[in-house]
Amino acid sequence: MTLVGETATVAGKKSHEGEVLAIRGGRALTGTVAVKGAKNLVTKAMVAALLGEAPSVLRDVPDISDVAVVRSLLEVHGVRVEEGPESGSLRLDPSEVESAHFEEIDAHAGASRIPILFCGPLLHRLGQAFIPDLGGCRIGDRPIDFHLDALRKFGAIVEKQPNGIRLSAPHGLRGANIHLPYPSVGATEQVLLTAVRAQGTTELRNAAIEPEIMDLIGVLQKMGAIISYEPNRVILIEGVRRLRGYDHRAIFDRNEAASWASAALATDGDIFVAGAEQQDMLTFLNVFRKVGGDFDIREDGIRFGRGGALRGVTVETDVHPGFMTDWQQPLIVALTQAQGRSIVHETVYENRFGFTQALVKMGASIAVYPNGLQDGPRRVPRRSLEQAAVIDGPTPLHAADITVPDLRGGYSHVIAALTADGESTVRNIGIIRRGYADFLDKLSGLGADFDVIG
Ligand code: EPZ
Repeated sequence: MTLVGETATVAGKKSHEGEVLAIRGGRALTGTVAVKGAKNLVTKAMVAALLGEAPSVLRDVPDISDVAVVRSLLEVHGVRVEEGPESGSLRLDPSEVESAHFEEIDAHAGASRIPILFCGPLLHRLGQAFIPDLGGCRIGDRPIDFHLDALRKFGAIVEKQPNGIRLSAPHGLRGANIHLPYPSVGATEQVLLTAVRAQGTTELRNAAIEPEIMDLIGVLQKMGAIISYEPNRVILIEGVRRLRGYDHRAIFDRNEAASWASAALATDGDIFVAGAEQQDMLTFLNVFRKVGGDFDIREDGIRFGRGGALRGVTVETDVHPGFMTDWQQPLIVALTQAQGRSIVHETVYENRFGFTQALVKMGASIAVYPNGLQDGPRRVPRRSLEQAAVIDGPTPLHAADITVPDLRGGYSHVIAALTADGESTVRNIGIIRRGYADFLDKLSGLGADFDVIG
């Protein structure tokens, strides 16, 4: 059964994230930035704490607004969240979980997609859940049909309501056989967070296997879950009745690390990303090298810069272990400075090149093909969602007045302004705080020349 509205759940949440920068470009970014725990693990591990019977401790939590959203959603459900034993850690105590009122949940859901992951844990704890319409970056329809189909297989009853969905599980949740139509990160997490306490065994096929998911499996195992990772994207989860708390240091944010790497490439800078690790960035590092970047892998991080003139490349985004969709936006800024033609095929989301309009306004030569390019065989099988961007370079960038559209696109706008000649005005910078901790401090530390003007 498909509910009306299930395929278009990005709600028109109001943004309070305006903030304007005047950025003077033309300076290389040089210095050190430290990356902390990954946004795309930390927020999920916080939700996992709901499943335990004792408090959990999460370390290396970044100071970003997505964490603040999840924290307040946990708090309206009775989870006590306080500073943990070391700086940048949180202690999450779920011993008094209770149901919350719709108004409270809606007020705290923010422009985030994480609330959908509260379904399984709340069904286990309370027998019901209300999930408001979701926010998140506007990079495509971002449906939740895989999530709801999986929850129904566990035995949940899903009712669409005017402002969200109501779920109940009058007979409890039972293990299920689930085959995802696509290895969705969020749907895999949904299944994990639901199956660990469901009665019986769950077999999940075509699961996402991103490093952040493996780290979430590690968190759940610490809590007492039994999860085995089989060949060919199969995950088996044997449900247990009870879970305890965890103490976990989050995996580093490889998206943030790749962003700073591309910033070094675009501005001809030299950035040491403390905390970055090679293994989870292998695919990115290969592309970085092919473009003409150079990197030095050290025990405590990776140093990024140019190794010579930049060259055009062809890149296809994909699920892990492919080139992440979240890596293409800052890289495209660097590709505007590369000699020759680059092609980026976006295969994960159907609308993730909107940010390139601002780069074109700044002088870049980028043509977007909304239905992709029929240009011969590809490593990634064509998806109906696919689109392509063709970048011809090098083109000098000049200053412009631009508005940040979403998290990764916004980061790339800032880097473009730092690469351009003259003073740009970049609006709506607040969105970038969803995923980049201490963003403006880090930029200053790298020698960026800007003022906050609004
Ligand atoms: C996660 O989004 C990340 N977000 C995204 O990061 C990331 O781009 C994405 O995974 C891919 O790696 C978080 O972890 C909070 P998906 P998620 O489910 O889980 C379709 C960033 O900038 N799909 O793997 O929402 C979907 O439309 C962000 O940090 C369905 O059709 O991604 C998309 O085309 C943005 N139905 C594809 O699957 C569903 O029910 C992949 O989405 C679910 C997904």
